[in-house]
Amino acid sequence: MSDTVKVCLIAARGRNNVIGREGDLPWRLKDDMAFFKKMTTGSPIVMGRRTWESLPVRPLKNRENIVLTRDWTYAADGARVYSSFPAAINTARAIARRQGAHEVYVIGGAMIYEAALPYADRIYMTEVDATPEGDVYFPSLAGDEWTSTALESHDAGNGNDFAFTIIRMDHTTPLAQG
Ligand SMILES: NC(=O)c1ccc[n+]([C@@H]2O[C@H](COP(=O)([O-])OP(=O)(O)OC[C@H]3O[C@@H](n4cnc5c(N)ncnc54)[C@H](OP(=O)(O)O)[C@@H]3O)[C@@H](O)[C@H]2O)c1
Repeated sequence: MSDTVKVCLIAARGRNNVIGREGDLPWRLKDDMAFFKKMTTGSPIVMGRRTWESLPVRPLKNRENIVLTRDWTYAADGARVYSSFPAAINTARAIARRQGAHEVYVIGGAMIYEAALPYADRIYMTEVDATPEGDVYFPSLAGDEWTSTALESHDAGNGNDFAFTIIRMDHTTPLAQG
């Protein structure tokens, strides 16, 4: 039986694929943060330990926070901690089904996007019109496996450092099941 809960990556990347710099984001995009909040509220979110530690407020509220680390002693107050991506995504799916959510969100960073790609039904990608300096990159995607639909565009200004477009990318070929 196919799983009705979709595994979705949600990310923002520059034209050079940069997503992070020195443990933080390379930009401030107010309207993208609002999109992120609107999409993920009420659904489980899965993230790497470094992204968890980069959050200004932990856990992100009204969402089940799931953190991946290989450190078995790691404690993340207010989050569930896992050391295997398949186990984390299975738990996220089970929680989503129980809560009536249709999507779970993998929120980064690069290492966890990489682990999640074989499971990803969908990517919500914010394409930022900038080429910032950075030290973390979104993994490369096979272009022929994804169908893109533009969702919204925003100009620079009013809290957005750069202009950006949010795209939904749907996977077109069969996926790994957790
Ligand atoms: N632009 C965006 O959309 C976006 C989104 C999120 C984050 N970011 C940025 O990305 C950067 C962080 O990304 P990152 O790649 O450095 O780190 P990350 O993916 O957030 O976390 C990496 C950590 O996760 C754990 N981990 C990784 N793979 C694992 C696996 N398969 N199983 C179990 N645990 C695993 C390890 O933790 P341990 O070391 O504890 O074992 C690893 O050090 C920051 O700059 C952040 O601001 C950008």
